[in-house]
Amino acid sequence: MTTLYTDIGELVTNDPTQGDGGPLGIIADAALVVDGDQIAWVGTRADAPAADRRVSCAGTSVIPGFVDSHAHLVFAGERSAEFAARMSGEPYGAGGIWSTVAATRAADDTALKAGVERLAAELLRAGVTTFETKSGYGLTVVDEARCLQIATTVTDETTFLGAHVVPAEFRDDRGGYIDLVVGDMLDACAPAASWVDVFCDRGAFDVDEARHILTAGMAAGLVPRLHAGQLGPSEGIQLGVDLGAASVDHCTYATDADVEALAGSQTVATLLPGAEFSTRAPWPDAKRLLDAGVTVALATDCNPGSSFTTSMSFCITVAVRDMNFTPAQALWSATAGGAAALRRSDVGVLAAGRRADFVRLDAPSYVHLSYRPGVPLVRDVVKGGQQELSRRVES
Ligand code: NIG
Ligand code: FE
Repeated sequence: MTTLYTDIGELVTNDPTQGDGGPLGIIADAALVVDGDQIAWVGTRADAPAADRRVSCAGTSVIPGFVDSHAHLVFAGERSAEFAARMSGEPYGAGGIWSTVAATRAADDTALKAGVERLAAELLRAGVTTFETKSGYGLTVVDEARCLQIATTVTDETTFLGAHVVPAEFRDDRGGYIDLVVGDMLDACAPAASWVDVFCDRGAFDVDEARHILTAGMAAGLVPRLHAGQLGPSEGIQLGVDLGAASVDHCTYATDADVEALAGSQTVATLLPGAEFSTRAPWPDAKRLLDAGVTVALATDCNPGSSFTTSMSFCITVAVRDMNFTPAQALWSATAGGAAALRRSDVGVLAAGRRADFVRLDAPSYVHLSYRPGVPLVRDVVKGGQQELSRRVES
């Protein structure tokens, strides 16, 4: 069964060989054909081939589905009081994670699964068609393993983050906790994970600890990515480059040397505007990274402490307004950039042979994602060729 989506006012393909020849590969007055779960054809409306079914997009903008390469969805409890305190002047620190750890350990699998499914549904409504999620709120062998197991029920992109913080019961025995992470915990978690991550920052793990943990994860077949430079300058960014990490995330306090190292590497810098927004942290300067030639992704960092949002549109708005992205760069980073951070070539681009994951906006241009802040512009979401969300009756 083939479906022709036509009367697309503006089709963002992220394929520079298409349309205007820019990085977004924008085709005006466009059409695309879906066959099963893949895109079979993209081009101008006038050249479109026949298909079994026809859907008119009535002149609106169609963009690739968002790829959210950084989220922490498996948890219980909530920390709105902590947020309110921060907005009254309290600083953010890694220690808040402990309260979520206590609630997560106390929750049964059914409650954790319900929470993750609710957030996965929110992501879909926000136009996210691929997302990553991490463990990191269990911090025991059993709890990390069950959090990852639950994560695999909603996504293939799962990350072992046993090294989120040292849990309270190991406060006087950091070494003992790290031995557990690289030992029994890694053994129990590796089968349900593709990636290994460490929170390499003040109050969490230092660069030597991070290297030890990531190296052990790599020996177990996991690919490294890491949190670094969120709370202060961190050698973790350079470590990510040295280890060939898929992505170094946050980079809020990246130094010139970090930017240079990232630019000369395959490692993506993933910026997380929700975290700076919700912790009143300084904004990283995307222009500095992009001008140096770094590949930049944008992700939600959805978590109950520092960034409780599933809205990629919100992240794009903030990225454009406060982080020196152009609207075009922000859209690319939230789609193709996220795909690069997850080393996925099948998503993030709308071209023949790629997955049919796309979003129809209630707008004539993707620029409206930041031009109309806070307005829910995600109208239809097609994932794997299936219409997963339709906000309105087809016009
Ligand atoms: O990405 N930085 C570490 N982890 C999360 C925060 C988690 C929390 O505060 O619960 C983050 O911002
Ligand atoms: Fe995070």
